Amino acid sequence: MSTNSLKEFMNTYKPQIEEELVRLVEQIQTPASLKDSMKYSLEAGGKRIRPILILATISSYGKNPIKGLNVACAIEMLHTYSLIHDDLPAMDDDDLRRGKPTNHKVFGEAFAILAGDALLTKSFHLIATDHSLDQSQRLEILSSLGESSGAEGMVGGQLADLEGEQKDLTLEELESIHHRKTGRLLAFSVVAGAIIANAPARDIKLLEEYAYHIGIAFQIQDDILDVEGSEDVIGKPVGSDESKVKSTYPRLLGMNGAKEKLHYHLQEALRYVNGVEADVTLLKELAELIANRTH
Ligand code: IPE
Ligand code: IPE
Ligand code: MG
Ligand code: MG
Ligand code: MG
Repeated sequence: MSTNSLKEFMNTYKPQIEEELVRLVEQIQTPASLKDSMKYSLEAGGKRIRPILILATISSYGKNPIKGLNVACAIEMLHTYSLIHDDLPAMDDDDLRRGKPTNHKVFGEAFAILAGDALLTKSFHLIATDHSLDQSQRLEILSSLGESSGAEGMVGGQLADLEGEQKDLTLEELESIHHRKTGRLLAFSVVAGAIIANAPARDIKLLEEYAYHIGIAFQIQDDILDVEGSEDVIGKPVGSDESKVKSTYPRLLGMNGAKEKLHYHLQEALRYVNGVEADVTLLKELAELIANRTH
């Protein structure tokens, strides 16, 4: 399958997202030292998968993707907060992220915690004050973000992930952790895009199913790259999971089993998104990209 259209889409919108992220942080009235710590991680160069998912979903409905720029920046800020905290000594204790020393290695733990807090809270503020959306859209998106990122979503998944260390988890338990710690924010991105595009409720259900499967696929590939990737390419240490005796798909199913599961979830994602009444080419290409990513 050609990835030309997705490539073009990303070449157009990634720079706009990145410029806007920096502009938004620079506007905040707070000491430069805190802004430097926030910008350091935002500018370190992630793949920007979540903001692209929002803009691609809007574009599927023939609407202008830029309508989702604020929400796209909000989810990238929230995701970046989750990474800064994920790397802290009390959590995964990792030294490298996005190819650079982790936030706490450069700015110290207090700044890393506070930069994360500031990015998290800014993300909600950004959506609440996005006047290009109507009030009901803002409320719906805020409510979805609160649920997806909090104790029932990403935070709960992160806790279950830590509690699962040194334990033999069942496949069901592992899938639930992956869904919460990674899947929920990817699903939020697709749903937020659909809300902004005024997609019909029936499509939102299908898009949620699509997002469920790309979320699991995304984290299976993350686990595979932790074993088979190279530090230069993934920009974070390899073997981080193994050193913490973490339950992962390769650990539970073997490498081949993990790859088969990844393939299954990719096929399911494609099956659901095919039922959506919009031009879902970009969303299909994004699913393939997520499953086949090398970093
Ligand atoms: C890494 O997310 C953390 C997980 C949820 C697995 P990404 O792989 O999207 O990281 P960046 O944003 O590209 O650095
Ligand atoms: C973390 O999962 C996911 C979140 C930050 C919510 P991982 O701990 O597997 O992510 P990496 O491998 O450090 O990016
Ligand atoms: Mg972790
Ligand atoms: Mg980690
Ligand atoms: Mg990982």
